[in-house]
Formats: sequence, C-alpha cells, structure tokens
Amino acid sequence: MKVDVLLGLQWGDEGKGKVVDVLTPGYDLVTRFQGGPNAGHTLEFEGQKYVLRSIPSGIFQGDKLNIIGNGVVLDPALFKAEVEALEASGHPLTKRLKISKKAHLILPTHRLLDQAYESAKGAGKIGTTGKGIGPTYTDKVSRNGVRVGDILHNFEEKYNTAIKRHKDLLTQYDFDYDLATLEKDWFEGIECIKKFELIDSEHVVNNAIKAEKKVLAEGAQGTMLDVDFGSYPFVTSSNTICAGACTGLGIAPRNIGEVYGIFKAYCTRVGSGPFPTELFDETGDLMRKNGNEFGSVTGRPRRCGWVDLVALKYAIMINGVTQLIMMKSDVMDAFETIKACVAYKINDVITEEFPYSIEGDIEPVYAELPGWQTDMTKMQSEDEFPEEFNAYLNFLEEELEVPIKIVSVGPDRAQTILR
Ligand code: GDP
Ligand code: IMO
Ligand code: MG
Repeated sequence: MKVDVLLGLQWGDEGKGKVVDVLTPGYDLVTRFQGGPNAGHTLEFEGQKYVLRSIPSGIFQGDKLNIIGNGVVLDPALFKAEVEALEASGHPLTKRLKISKKAHLILPTHRLLDQAYESAKGAGKIGTTGKGIGPTYTDKVSRNGVRVGDILHNFEEKYNTAIKRHKDLLTQYDFDYDLATLEKDWFEGIECIKKFELIDSEHVVNNAIKAEKKVLAEGAQGTMLDVDFGSYPFVTSSNTICAGACTGLGIAPRNIGEVYGIFKAYCTRVGSGPFPTELFDETGDLMRKNGNEFGSVTGRPRRCGWVDLVALKYAIMINGVTQLIMMKSDVMDAFETIKACVAYKINDVITEEFPYSIEGDIEPVYAELPGWQTDMTKMQSEDEFPEEFNAYLNFLEEELEVPIKIVSVGPDRAQTILR
C-alpha cells in the first residue's frame, strides 16, 4: 500500500500528535521523517497528557511499529529522557521503536552553536527552539555529520573530529559553556539508543509497502516553517512538506497515498518572523487563553491570529493535500464573529497568491462569518454541529477546494469527529 502522510499546513503545533494517535489503529507502521526535538507533539487520553519530541505519535496504540526515519535529527540525551518518561508511565518501547542508522545525531556542541548563532543575530534572531537543529542539518548537508549508524563503527574518532571542529567555531563567539556536563548526559543517551534496533529503515518501509502494509508518515513543524517554501529565513532547517517524507524515509513519490493537511481553525506561530494575520488585541489574547497557546517544548506564548487562507491554499498546493483536518474548533466557540483572511493587500494591490515574501506591509482582507457561540467540546458527531459551524466548514471547503474529513473539538483523543 502507499504511504499516507500527515503534515502541518501552518507554523507548527497544529495538533499533529493528537491526530496521528487517533489514526494509528488503521496503520501497521508509523514513522517520523524530519525534524527532531524541536517538535513537541501532545497527546491526551484517559486523563493523561504526553509530549513526544522525537518518538512517533503512534507509540500509544497497541504494538504498532514506530520508526525514527533517516531524515530525523536525534539528540541522545533528550531521546533518553523521552524514553524514560514513557517507560515510567507504563509504556515500554524497545520492541516497538526502531531507529534509522542514517538519522543524524545532534551533538552537544550543535546545541551550543545554535545558541551562539542566535545570540550573535541579536534582534534578528530566528527564535529557534535552541535544540541544535540548524547546526546539525548544516553538518549533514556539508558532509560533516555524525549518524546513528556511526555508533557502531569508529564512533569515538568521528565524534572527536566533529567536536574539535565545533569548538574551533565556538571560539569566534563570546560564549561560556560546560561541555563536560553536556557530554555526560549525551553519552548516557548513546547507551540508551544502543538498546534499540538500529535499522536500514528505507528497506523496512519499502518492504512494508510491498507487503501491502499501511504506513503513516508523521510530519513535524509545518509548511510555513519549511526551509524552501516557508517564511525564510524564519524557518526550521528541514523540508517539512510532503516531499520531505520521500527523502526522509527513502520512498518514491509514486508511493505517496493520502496527504492529510492539518490546520487550526485560527493560526499560531512561535519564534520570530512575519505573520500577516497576527492579532495584538484582546481577540488574540482570548485565542491564546482558550487555546492554551503556550509552546509544548519551550513554554513560550504562541502568537495568535485569524486563519490565513492565502497561506493555507499555498500549503495545500505545495503538499498536494487530499484531505483536510481542522483542529481546535472549540477555541472559536467564544467568538461572535469569525474572520478568515481571503487575500492580501500589498501596496494597494489585492492578491490571493502567496507572495515571495510576507515581510513588510501586508494588510489581510477578511471574510467575516457569524460565530456559533456554542460549547463544541462534548459533541460526538457532525449531526450536532451548530448551523453556523457547518456554514464555516462549507465556506472553508469551497475556498480551499479540499474536503475537511476530521474536526477536532478538544485536546483529548475522544474529542475527534470523523466526517
Ligand atoms: P503538534 O506539534 O502539531 O503535535 O501540536 P502541539 O501538541 O504542539 O499543540 C497542539 C495543542 O493543542 C496541544 O496542547 C494539544 O493538546 C491541543 N489540542 C489538540 N487538538 C485540540 C482541539 O481540538 N482543541 C483544543 N482546545 N486543544 C487541542
Ligand atoms: P511541532 O512539530 C512550532 C520554530 C521555532 C523557530 C523556528 C526554527 O511541535 O509543530 P528550530 O529550533 O527548528 O531551528 O527553530 O521554527 N519551530 C516550531 N514551531 N512547532 C514546532 O514543531 C516547531 N519546531 C520549530 O519556534 O521559530
Ligand atoms: Mg508542537
């Protein structure tokens, strides 16, 4: 069977983790294909809340196999902490989680370099998660990286060569650090990684495709953070788009099946960078409060604004989205009027086409729809949807030209309505 891909259409945190968990019973294999512990994927069920960073969100549904693919960057220390937290909560992983030998390792000095580069940028900083993502992908592309498979061959030499190079780079920055402490955690993390089966994941995934198994690829971040198509340079350092699943798992484009595009009924962003529909008023504050919009990795307040259909249409085009998933509908329960940006006004010219840059003066052109002002969190089926909510869904489907197949009305696994 073909591989289905689930990915974020906005600036991340759309609710990917929750939906992957909900969809996993229909799959045999769940894989991550890019990003690293910059991701924070939240799942809630049976009164418990879990935040996953590098481990795929299919890990809680029975004994489904989960794979960390070659496109991922893995921090051993954070991985160990994640594994231990899951094991402590009664979810042993070793048999159900495998790691690609071709995934790159985030070294302790990558994290330091991330911080040093950010401080040096001053006001122009990207607002990264500080997890070493950019420097690790930089080393991968410049052919200086250390991979998970290297743990098995000449590891010390490869590690020491990379660390020496990083230390030289760090001398250019006025930056104090305690590498010994970081290294202790890091090498304990390496021991933890060794407990897992390290695999040639491209073979495992392609064999699964051949054997008619169902594979779900879980994206991290979102299309607006893609290194090619996002709001560059305020992006992450990987391809978060559908094509990233091909390179991040080693699957051919013709083996991609459904592309689930996930978005919030409004829009958020963490870190710096342009955000045309951002709200700085009490409406934005209410979205932040009702949506509990604080980063699951850094705790930073997320910037909030109305849904941006210009950006969403662009994301749908780039990814070839076949089904839409709308999250956090319940956060809109409070609003008398719901706005959706249908065009940008740039220098007095109105455009519906996503431009080269969204920096500078962009005035969003809004469509306004009546709110439903009804508590949606207990709803179980679409028959219960208020008329105004159905009108909002119809409006979005007409604008975006893709059906909305799942609606989420709360953080819990059970608060998910299939249409
Ligand atoms: P991800 O990175 O895309 O997996 O998303 P995050 O987990 O970072 O952020 C989504 C947040 O919204 C989490 O705190 C979820 O528990 C929560 N969430 C997911 N779906 C819904 C929903 O439909 N309604 C509400 N109120 N919260 C939701
Ligand atoms: P999930 O998978 C939201 C943002 C950071 C910063 C930029 C670059 O949970 O949706 P990086 O550390 O990747 O170099 O930071 O990208 N960012 C995210 N924002 N959700 C994420 O992941 C993110 N991962 C990175 O805030 O603006
Ligand atoms: Mg997140």
